[in-house]
Amino acid sequence: MKMHLDEKIWLTLSFGIIMIFMLITGYQTFALSMGPPSNKEIIDPQKVDQTAPFNQPGMKKIGENEYEVVMTLQAFGFAPSKIEVPVGATVHFVLTSKDVVHGFQIAGTNANAMVMPGHIQRITQTFDTRGSFLVLCNEYCGGGHQFMSTTITVL
Ligand code: CUA
Repeated sequence: MKMHLDEKIWLTLSFGIIMIFMLITGYQTFALSMGPPSNKEIIDPQKVDQTAPFNQPGMKKIGENEYEVVMTLQAFGFAPSKIEVPVGATVHFVLTSKDVVHGFQIAGTNANAMVMPGHIQRITQTFDTRGSFLVLCNEYCGGGHQFMSTTITVL
């Protein structure tokens, strides 16, 4: 089969570009650990209330100005619903959903996570400024979605 030279050049180029993209993506995922975490920690969404640590949602101190907040999300709220931390605190959130997919976004920060039933989501945020931070559900989860919010107060 005879192939035109231009055709060979363009085929080689496009194949080469695909290979370069795949190499970049592979390098980022495996060498730089930039791949999305998924399916790492699972939980039975029917038994969240009986499964530690979610049987006792709340905040505990785990270090010098370092806290862990175990939180459950369900239509249409967050438990615990009010969180207060001292300024400068680093907070490790451990999240799961009791029903459908919810979102966990701390407005004005980079903290933004999808919280899926059956999965445990972890996200860490350091609060360097005082004030009240709005926490929003940013995944549509039903008729009360727009009311699903809480606050984190940094004292
Ligand atoms: Cu929960 Cu939207």
